[in-house]
Amino acid sequence: MIMETAKRTDGIDNSAVKTLRVAIDGPAGAGKSTVAQLVAKRLGLLYIDTGAMYRAATWLAVKNGIDVKDGDAIAKAAGEAVIKLEPGDETSSNRVRVFVDEHEVTQAIRSHEISELVSPVSVHSPLRKVMVAQQKELAKRGGVVLDGRDIGTVVMPDADIKIYLTASTKVRAQRRMKDQEALGENPDYNKLVAAIAERDNRDSTRADSPLKQADDAIAIITDNMSIDQVVDAVVRLCVGE
Ligand code: DC
Repeated sequence: MIMETAKRTDGIDNSAVKTLRVAIDGPAGAGKSTVAQLVAKRLGLLYIDTGAMYRAATWLAVKNGIDVKDGDAIAKAAGEAVIKLEPGDETSSNRVRVFVDEHEVTQAIRSHEISELVSPVSVHSPLRKVMVAQQKELAKRGGVVLDGRDIGTVVMPDADIKIYLTASTKVRAQRRMKDQEALGENPDYNKLVAAIAERDNRDSTRADSPLKQADDAIAIITDNMSIDQVVDAVVRLCVGE
């Protein structure tokens, strides 16, 4: 997989912070991507949305008619593709823009179909090997915020700051509902709750690098916190306040 990413933003002027390696893990809908993106912007770090990488691989599998159970074929297709992440803008509701070869898949990878398929796709070890190698390479130089499920445990076990963001299933389902409504979909709340519970269970019980809070991660429960409050808390930890 040839992976390209966006450039760092200017952020705050503090050279120790510029080389930080920040890991943000947690279940779906805890606010990881939004928080990680804003923290990276505030601190002038590169944001890498690893969930978007697994979503892009899933989109590629669907496009190529590959069976989601065929981990080797998915890993091969992802390995041969150029997956590119660019900073979000108004065309993407400020979410990271994602390209697979010549296709922009920013919206497509957030659809209900891909959200359902990405968890079974991401269990495959051959695919995880391709993704993790790429993520480690991107993180090597420091100055990065990565969010995902296995960042603090597998991708950056030696990260400077490890955060585990979580929220109750109900709150996460409400957040997913808003995301999908914004895409013009008409989600059913109870089905979303069930899907999130199922996804949590699959992500945290899979054999290869399951979703798990690293021993040295700081847990933040975001149920009653605004995005700004969570971002402030993470930034404070990063600058050592
Ligand atoms: O964060 P997200 O909802 O975009 O992630 C999509 C899926 O990818 C999720 O089911 C878990 C998986 N994932 C993973 O296994 N490892 C990561 N580092 C990031 C995401």
